[in-house]
Amino acid sequence: MASASALAGQMLASRILPSSVMAADPAPTLLTHAIPATGEQIPAVGMGTWITFNVGNDEKLREQRTEILKTFFAAGGAMVDSSPMYGSSEEVIGYCMDRIGDRKPLFSATKVWTVSKWLGVRQMRESESLWGEQQFDLMQIHNLLDWEAHLETLKDWKAEGRLRYTGITTSHGRRHDELADILVKQPFDFVQLTYNIQDREAENRLLPLAADNGRAVIINRPFRRGELTAKLAKHPLPGWASEIDCTTWAQVLLKFVISHPAVTCAIPATSRIDHMAENMAACRGAMPDAALRKRMIADIETL
Ligand SMILES: NC(=O)c1ccc[n+]([C@@H]2O[C@H](COP(=O)([O-])OP(=O)(O)OC[C@H]3O[C@@H](n4cnc5c(N)ncnc54)[C@H](OP(=O)(O)O)[C@@H]3O)[C@@H](O)[C@H]2O)c1
Repeated sequence: MASASALAGQMLASRILPSSVMAADPAPTLLTHAIPATGEQIPAVGMGTWITFNVGNDEKLREQRTEILKTFFAAGGAMVDSSPMYGSSEEVIGYCMDRIGDRKPLFSATKVWTVSKWLGVRQMRESESLWGEQQFDLMQIHNLLDWEAHLETLKDWKAEGRLRYTGITTSHGRRHDELADILVKQPFDFVQLTYNIQDREAENRLLPLAADNGRAVIINRPFRRGELTAKLAKHPLPGWASEIDCTTWAQVLLKFVISHPAVTCAIPATSRIDHMAENMAACRGAMPDAALRKRMIADIETL
C-alpha cells in the first residue's frame, strides 16, 4: 500500500485547469491528480488488467507480465486495477508483486463482483489473499452489481481500516442514470466509467457530477479496447501532437482523457512492455488545453 505521504513525496503535484496548457519541461515531472476525499496525489495514468493479465499458469507469460509491472513502477505508476471477473488476473498480479518484492509504489484497486453481502465478503477476502494485500487501497463494486448489499461491507471495512477508499464502476456507457443517482446520494470515494475521444457521453452529466460531489474518477477503456489505437495507427500524427509532447497516437488518446478536469486517472491495459513505457510517458510533458481538446475531437472524427 502506498501512503499519501509516500506518494506525495515521490511526485510533484499538479492539477490541470480547464484552459491552461502546461508548459513543456526539460525534465517533465509526472502528472498526478488529487483524490478529492483526502487530497492524496496519484499518477494520472494507472494500468488495467482485463485480458492482459489473465495468463493463467504460463510461467513465461507471468515473467513477462512481471516485467510490465516493473516498467510501470519504474515510470512512476501506482494504480493497478483488477477484478475477480478477470480470470486469473488477480492471482497473476499477486505472483508478479511477490517477485518485485517492494510493494510501496502499488495503489491496489480491485472490485467485488457477485451477489449478496456474504458472497461479497468471501470474494473480497479471496482477492486479498490472491494479491497478497492485507488492505486494499480501493475496493470498487463492479458494474453496480448488488451495490446496496456491498456498500454496507465497504463502509464497515473502511471504518476498520481494512480498505482505504470505496468505489463503484460501470463501462460501455451502461446504467448512467442509476450511476448519476448513486454519485449524488452515496458516499463512494471513487467512480470508474468509460471515457475516450470517441465515447464522450460522460462529459454531459457524470463527469461534472463527480467533480461537483468530490468523487475521484477512474477512466476505463481509454483506447476503446484497442480499437482506437488500431484505427489511428494508419494515419500520421497531426502537427499539434508535438505541442503536447506526444510521439504516438496512444499518448494523444491518453492525454485527451487525463486532461479532462474531472478525471483523476486513466487505466489503459497492455500486454506489451514497450506499450507500457509509451503509455506512462503520457503522464509527462505538456497537456492539451480546452481549445486543443476540441480540435483533437474534430480532427480525429475526420479520420
Ligand atoms: N466495468 C468495469 O469495471 C471495467 C470495464 C472495462 C474495463 N475496465 C478496466 O479498464 C481497463 C482498461 O480497459 P480495456 O482493457 O477494456 O481497454 P483499453 O485499455 O482501452 O485497451 C486495451 C487495448 O489497447 C492496446 N494498447 C495498450 N497500449 C497500447 C499502445 N501504447 N499502443 C497500441 N495499443 C495499445 C492493448 O493491446 P496490447 O496488449 O497489444 O498493448 C489492448 O488490446 C481494463 O483492463 C480494466 O482493468 C473496467
